[in-house]
Amino acid sequence: MNRILITSALPYINGVKHLGNLAGSMLPADIYARFERLRGSEVLYICATDEHGTPAELAAEAAGQDVKTYCDEQHELQRAAGEGFSLSYDWFGRSSSIQNHQLTQHFAQKLEAEGLIEERTSRQVYSIDDKRFLPDRYVQGTCPHCDSAKARGDQCDDCGRLLDPTDLIDPYSALSGSKNVELRDTTHLFLKQAAMQDTIRNWVEASVDWPSLAKSIALKWLDEGLQDRAITRDLSWGVPVLKDGKPRPGFEDKVFYVWFDAPIEYIGATIEWAEANGKTWEDWWRTDKGADDVTYVQFMGKDNVAFHTVSFPITLLGSAEPWKTVDRLKAFNWVTWYGGKFSTSQNRGIFMDQALKIAPSDMWRWYLMANAPESSDAAFTLEQFQAVVNSDLANVLGNFVNRITKFANAKFDGQIPDGGTIGELEQKLFAEFDAQITALSAHHQAMDYRKAAAATRAIWALGNEYLAEAAPWTVIKTDPDKAAMIVRTALNMVVMSAIVAQVFIPDAATRVLDAMGVPKENRNWPNQAGSVLLDKLPRRSQFTVPELLFAKIEDEQVAEWSQRFGASPT
Ligand code: 2FM
Ligand code: ZN
Repeated sequence: MNRILITSALPYINGVKHLGNLAGSMLPADIYARFERLRGSEVLYICATDEHGTPAELAAEAAGQDVKTYCDEQHELQRAAGEGFSLSYDWFGRSSSIQNHQLTQHFAQKLEAEGLIEERTSRQVYSIDDKRFLPDRYVQGTCPHCDSAKARGDQCDDCGRLLDPTDLIDPYSALSGSKNVELRDTTHLFLKQAAMQDTIRNWVEASVDWPSLAKSIALKWLDEGLQDRAITRDLSWGVPVLKDGKPRPGFEDKVFYVWFDAPIEYIGATIEWAEANGKTWEDWWRTDKGADDVTYVQFMGKDNVAFHTVSFPITLLGSAEPWKTVDRLKAFNWVTWYGGKFSTSQNRGIFMDQALKIAPSDMWRWYLMANAPESSDAAFTLEQFQAVVNSDLANVLGNFVNRITKFANAKFDGQIPDGGTIGELEQKLFAEFDAQITALSAHHQAMDYRKAAAATRAIWALGNEYLAEAAPWTVIKTDPDKAAMIVRTALNMVVMSAIVAQVFIPDAATRVLDAMGVPKENRNWPNQAGSVLLDKLPRRSQFTVPELLFAKIEDEQVAEWSQRFGASPT
């Protein structure tokens, strides 16, 4: 059996994520997990909240809560939002867990033993008014690359570049706004990344299975030459810096950098899962304990790629222990909100919890994956959301299911009809269905989500076209046996349409399969020929007409949402 380990980038704890975050990591990872499970693979899909560092501290401060209480509450909100979107995590952990703390200490120790960590004194931004150092997001200023006035010390969201706080022009404190800042000496642990340059390059070059966006980003970093980087910060919230189990002298007021401990939580969360479920985790992560036959697949936005292709692999390979490293890495561009940025403070865009209140999760899941930001950024607009949902889900799939189940129910007493033999039209349908299923499976394996959605839609459309051509409502007047065969074939096509839809729109697909009386164990990914698959429903078994699958989105709704979520042109 294939064993597949899947992780999606860990969402920061600082608030429920927006549709763009969902589309660029958690949702595609869920689609892949569902696809592999339906194919019979043993899947472990792990995610967690990323709870340390300046994002957590600043958000807690803004909310007027202590960091621990803030994280507890926000973790629960993100967990619930994930559940609302039917994200099928095997475990949704927390990077603040004891398991992650212990593992982070373990890696730091190993890296130090391998000579890859040393203490270095460097100059950092210090706020005289706040009486503290301003690491990462605690300092803001002008981006030296693109002149954006809103760059943060760790990253500029406008040009996407990773930054160091000392790079910023006209820096000021994100806490107090004070410009009364200076550079002061502080000592940190540095990870000697430059020493790992060749190891990482060889490892990246050997990674044949990475989609091109990920590989090109990794190679760009290697070409520029790996820089040693500080893996501790002057902060209080995070994993403390220990030595032999006690606070490391000189590091009493410091913690590990959030980007050091966050990816370690992929493993930490697996340990959380194992301990909660009486399972073992080593066979997923240690190549000396059985993980050598695991395929490890990561999903993330493009700004995370460097951390996953360079920094985290340095932690794993630098430890000189047999850890599992990523085999396939799928990276995404951004979903934009009408071409601009999602922003909570400026009330622009829809966040996961809000989305669930205005439309069923299946609609968002379908739209976001059918328009996944794969080859470039993708603008979300409510108008396009309406158009896609109404055409693909309401018209193509919904109408097909509705029309044939109602007709069959009326004319054949809610039973899968018996009788009749297949003809030319059916042969043609089987052949087209085979071709589409083959293409669809390949797209899922390649993690090409726009193409997978298009092939899924094509399968739904086949059902509609077949019905239009075969016209059972006319045939039944002269040849009831033939009409029975057509209805049976079309009902089987309903089932296959729902089976392939499960990965994208699990709720609606489940309603159809329940109504058609398909037992859970018969909902696996189709890998037989169309001629077999489209004659699978037991004849004379009962079915019911599913409730309306998708109500169309009306113009008035779009108008109201535009008002509410700031879609008017800015
Ligand atoms: O960019 C982000 O949202 C980070 N919280 C992703 C972390 S991924 C992993 F390494 F933890
Ligand atoms: Zn910039």
